[in-house]
Amino acid sequence: MVILPGRAFKGSGMRVRRCAILYLEPRERVEFDLHGLLAGSSGAARIVEWIAHAPHLARPVAIDEAARDCLGCLSAEEWTTREALAAWPADVLDRLVEQGLAVADEGGATEHAARDVQGRDGHWWGPAALVHAAGRWSGEDAAAATEAAGLSTAVGLRERLGVPPPAALTRCDPADRIALARAEADGFDELLQRRATCRNFDSDRPLSQALLARMMERVFAAQAQWRMDDETVFLKKGAPSGGGLHPTEAYLILQQVEGLAAGLYHYHPVEHALEPLPGAGMAMRELALQAVAGQHWFADAPVLVVMAARFARCFWKYRQHPKAYRAVTMDAGHLSQTLYLAATDLGLGAFVTCAINEVDIERALGLDPLEEGVMAVCGFGWRAGEMRNAEFDPAGRVWPAAR
Ligand SMILES: Cc1cc2nc3c(=O)[nH]c(=O)nc-3n(C[C@H](O)[C@H](O)[C@H](O)COP(=O)(O)O)c2cc1C
Repeated sequence: MVILPGRAFKGSGMRVRRCAILYLEPRERVEFDLHGLLAGSSGAARIVEWIAHAPHLARPVAIDEAARDCLGCLSAEEWTTREALAAWPADVLDRLVEQGLAVADEGGATEHAARDVQGRDGHWWGPAALVHAAGRWSGEDAAAATEAAGLSTAVGLRERLGVPPPAALTRCDPADRIALARAEADGFDELLQRRATCRNFDSDRPLSQALLARMMERVFAAQAQWRMDDETVFLKKGAPSGGGLHPTEAYLILQQVEGLAAGLYHYHPVEHALEPLPGAGMAMRELALQAVAGQHWFADAPVLVVMAARFARCFWKYRQHPKAYRAVTMDAGHLSQTLYLAATDLGLGAFVTCAINEVDIERALGLDPLEEGVMAVCGFGWRAGEMRNAEFDPAGRVWPAAR
């Protein structure tokens, strides 16, 4: 986001209010303190810095105590006049307006002010907006970071993190358990058993357009619709959705699909059609790798699906609702499981990850994170013949030879 220069608040007749959603964090950091060390202390000085989290801004802002106290005196709803704020030095207020933590009502709308209004109109529940904004990554290489921390294998996890909580929970005396019958596996059970996260795609084998179409139809297409009027339409899909609103959009990063140019596409769930999007200014492989935060085992998939929630669609019904963001997150989860099963049924491999660089994906697709939030990235394609990256297949359903 471009930070526009602030307008001088001092002496003007301007009014000001605090941005709509704001959380202050007393963040502690430790600095080496030579004087303290020489005086006999531990040599570690603990410094508290106030960090302002305002989801309409690109990043959190460090503020001083005067700014913190001034923010505490500003209403987020009522405009306060300059006269009423005479006790505050003008530079404190000017800086808050410049940083976008306070908004002035004159002098032309700044980008900060416009985004504050967008946040207000978007019916966000404050804590959800904070979680959504704070959890986004840019330029992370999660694969390298996990490797460097020694956390990429079960042995490494056990060594560094100790014993995990038990895999299954016991809540009664085992003697009191009521054993349930186990059924003969049918086709559906076998489908579930063959589902495994694919980390070995055949990067030389393109997907046919027919298989891509089949996958999109099964997972993301509207199977039917119910129209109350031309502007009030509800879609029926294979996965459930909070409020029946289906806010999750599917954007495709196509790398290798027969008859389709590599590039970015939006999937239209009613028309069952691809909408080509402008290029991202980089090769699709580079974007795919960036999107999945360096996880090359996923970047090899011929098709990656970015699931992005159109918040306005969900928050239209669930306004400032404490459960709405959770519903949006779960929607993506349901779609991902449907995608896994659809792919498995067609003999394809599939994955989902939320270790993703949301900010880089937003940039490539031209998405505004307050409007359309990237929740997860899925993908599918042909499996490779040999396992180069570990998969979790203890029963040997996918890799019988490797068991
Ligand atoms: C929400 C979610 C996020 C995941 N993120 C990653 C990821 O970042 N990288 C990865 O290799 N696998 C990821 N996975 C796959 C899990 O590691 C996988 O489901 C787990 O190891 C069990 O294996 P299975 O899916 O084959 O049963 C994710 C799965 C889910 C549901």
